[in-house]
Amino acid sequence: MKVMAINGSPRKNWNTDTLLKKVLDGAASAGAETEMVYLYDLKFRGCVSCMACKLRKEPRPCRCIQKDDLTAVLDKIHEADAVVLGSPIYFSEVTGEMRSFIERFLFQYLNYDDYSKPLSPAKKTALIFTMNIPEALFDDFGYRPLFQRYENWMKLYFGHCETLLATDTLQVKDYSRYHLEGFDAESKYSRHETVFPQDCRKAFDLGRKLVLENNKNQDAERSIYDFKVTSGEGMILDLADFRGKVILIVNTATGCGFTSQYTELVQMYNDYHVKGLEILDIPCNQFGAQAPGTDAEIHNFCTLHYNTPFPQMKKSDVNGENQLPLYAYLKSQKGFEGFGEHPFKDLLEKKFAEQDPDWAKTPDIKWNFTKFIIDREGNVVARFEPTADMGEVEDCVKSLL
Ligand SMILES: Cc1cc2nc3c(=O)[nH]c(=O)nc-3n(C[C@H](O)[C@H](O)[C@H](O)COP(=O)(O)O)c2cc1C
Repeated sequence: MKVMAINGSPRKNWNTDTLLKKVLDGAASAGAETEMVYLYDLKFRGCVSCMACKLRKEPRPCRCIQKDDLTAVLDKIHEADAVVLGSPIYFSEVTGEMRSFIERFLFQYLNYDDYSKPLSPAKKTALIFTMNIPEALFDDFGYRPLFQRYENWMKLYFGHCETLLATDTLQVKDYSRYHLEGFDAESKYSRHETVFPQDCRKAFDLGRKLVLENNKNQDAERSIYDFKVTSGEGMILDLADFRGKVILIVNTATGCGFTSQYTELVQMYNDYHVKGLEILDIPCNQFGAQAPGTDAEIHNFCTLHYNTPFPQMKKSDVNGENQLPLYAYLKSQKGFEGFGEHPFKDLLEKKFAEQDPDWAKTPDIKWNFTKFIIDREGNVVARFEPTADMGEVEDCVKSLL
């Protein structure tokens, strides 16, 4: 998934830029590819009313033909899954560059034959506006209809839009250096210290949400039976062949404190395979590099020490850019809900928090031996962290057979 941010502020690393970066950080934390575009770095004009995008041609043009720095940007946004526009408010409007961008961006999709049916592709969108004015003065200055109008356009054109407002922003670092008597500098500094970080958090969450909701929509149209995985020997295993079975999918590692869970997994398979249980063992070296061997070495280890009877897949990634598509799907169906009670709980939580303060919010696989259980209808019904009691895992499997 690709998320683009369009920055309509001339100032880098200030309010608008910071919030847009947070949105992209949030989107990236949910696995999206991201890109920021700084409008003030580009040479472009607003719509020149050439009407080429409205010509009677088949297929209908519906794309801007003006050639300048915005051309490639508009092409990329057209293909992106989500776009976030950010602008400071200048004289009760978005900035001039943002306004010119919006003319070019939306006019190409405007359908004069039927205004209610624009020619734009559906995508997730969001708007971020930053401004000096405190929210209490919105009504006096007619700001609410302004934000609503932009949100309505985006909803009409793309089917979705959310707005994030950052009000009463810090305009300069040191108010004493400027003629800015109309502002209470101390209150501006204090708000920047206390409220702006909350706005940043909201922006991060917004970015994550755009991605997770988009994935959900896509995944709603998919099922577990659409995925294929490759075995250690290079055979393609089609999950559609497991239709009607209960499936347990586990990412494994040979040198982990949880490796002994193979004992219970093997026991479960031996007891319930005839009743319809399938276990998919997916070795993964992403957690503490605890599956360093080749596919053959891993397989030899498992058969020698645990006599594993179930199919073992090729060593694969379960998080990040190279993750198996199957795992993107599994994680979209069941996110992380905590480690529960376990002696390793505190240790694991501390370790993850050091790496990423938002670790618990992401659906990413946290460690080796995370298990997903799929029922006979193909629903991902449970996710067990490695710290979960194996008895609970077995109870879940039994209840579905
Ligand atoms: C030319 C100009 C006009 C502005 N007009 C308004 C305005 O009408 N209403 C408002 O609330 N803030 C106004 N501001 C303040 C900015 O919107 C505010 O400082 C914003 O957070 C700046 O974003 P930035 O930090 O990303 O540059 C104006 C600032 C400038 C430079």
